[in-house]
Amino acid sequence: MRTTFSADRAAKATTDVLAVLVPVGRLSGALADLDAADAFGGALAGAARDDGFEGRIGTSFAVPGLGHVPAKRVVLVGVGSGSESDLRAGCGNLGKLVREKGAKTVAVVSPEAAISTDALSLTIEAFAEGNYRFDKYKPAAQRKAATDELCFYGVAENARAVATALALAAGQELARNLVNEPAAEIYPDTLAAVAESLAGGEVSVVASLGFAEIQAKGMGGIVGVGQGSARKPRFVHLRYEPAGGAKAHVALVGKGVTFDSGGLSIKPNDGMLTMRCDMAGAAAVIGTMKAIAATRPNVRVDVIFGAVENMPSSNAYKLGDILKMYSGKRVEIHNTDAEGRLVLADCLHYASELKPDVVVDLATLTGAAVVALGDWYSALYSRENSTAVQLLAAAERSGEGAWRMPLPDLYRDKIKAEWGETKNTGGRAAGSITAALFLSDFVTTPKWVHIDIAGPAFMDSPLLHYVQGGTGTMVRTLSRWIEGLGQ
Ligand code: BES
Ligand code: MN
Ligand code: ZN
Repeated sequence: MRTTFSADRAAKATTDVLAVLVPVGRLSGALADLDAADAFGGALAGAARDDGFEGRIGTSFAVPGLGHVPAKRVVLVGVGSGSESDLRAGCGNLGKLVREKGAKTVAVVSPEAAISTDALSLTIEAFAEGNYRFDKYKPAAQRKAATDELCFYGVAENARAVATALALAAGQELARNLVNEPAAEIYPDTLAAVAESLAGGEVSVVASLGFAEIQAKGMGGIVGVGQGSARKPRFVHLRYEPAGGAKAHVALVGKGVTFDSGGLSIKPNDGMLTMRCDMAGAAAVIGTMKAIAATRPNVRVDVIFGAVENMPSSNAYKLGDILKMYSGKRVEIHNTDAEGRLVLADCLHYASELKPDVVVDLATLTGAAVVALGDWYSALYSRENSTAVQLLAAAERSGEGAWRMPLPDLYRDKIKAEWGETKNTGGRAAGSITAALFLSDFVTTPKWVHIDIAGPAFMDSPLLHYVQGGTGTMVRTLSRWIEGLGQ
């Protein structure tokens, strides 16, 4: 998507859609130019008012240009109070509305000329987010064109805001596409290939291991989960090394289960239906790598994921198996559907060996996180305050939901094993917490944050301006947080 700025009158825009962002109580002011005598002549504000449009968030009012203006359609979009977060929400709605119309070119009239770089970036990010569809498998007649030009009116040109927004949006879009693609397309080898394709410039592939190498390294968690599938696992480590030197070093770890059938503890049909989304953590860290390769923060970033397909077969790992993990710990298998923590455990131990300042992992880890927090909020866990607070703030600013959860040692008994050192399930109660406790035993860096994205990674039905399917959640949050660490 190209983003441009125009100093001309919006009423003269020749775009498919001419959109006006309208704060509550400022309808006439926002429409002054469009309602001038040589355009709608005052009729537009009146028609919107008659229709009950006041500028509230989530509302809009659309009319055809009908020769009053050269644009094909005029859309008034509510931006509520006009605050940064309301502008973002309104622009998300706008992105969605114009995609439904297949509008390729969109002019946007902002209520405020003075808009900060961050706020402008956020509005463009939200527009792109709302404009997204995954329709490549639909017949051409049912596909709607994406917007390829967004032109701001009444806003000063800001190349930095545009560059940031487009980089973050592209990273998020990659993550969404990876999640939405069927597991027949995105499996361990192809997920690894997409990650490797990011190499170049300051990004390099440090490791990309196949099954034999993963076995040789003793990564028993990845081997155990992956051995049941004909699509054998991969382990990938990418590094972004800023040419100008790094002020901080972070490791991002993602759960990359490209399909989670549950294994021998097989899932029922409905629970399995969307389990191609179980690599959303890996997709998020890959998307973040794509974004930062463009924004170039002063931070060394290691991206690590295990890509695995969890399948039942005669080679599959079994209940009662005792896996020897990469860290050397022995884990007793009580349920082959609690596979994510096994894959992550090996990745977290590997990440700890790099001795970064902080490790953050993202995973569609537990149904319990969805039960607790629903589709909007990720469950965020940390024993250490500073990074948790930074990440929650970055999520808030990015318009993504994250909620801090407790990580009490009091519940440790729930994952105590009979024969091994620990077991891979902790019972029904506090299922998201006991999964986090399990992971904590494989991290040796003092600063670590675990984000269970099982809810927001994939929308089962549309929510706000998100369509059904992958959301690319946390790409923008992580990218913003990393940008901050480099400043
Ligand atoms: N991938 C699932 C968790 C999940 C559920 C993600 C719903 C997205 C939406 C995970 O591997 C899983 O199956 N977890 C089990 C753990 C249990 C067996 C201890 C669960 O949550 O039921
Ligand atoms: Mn599972
Ligand atoms: Zn899973």
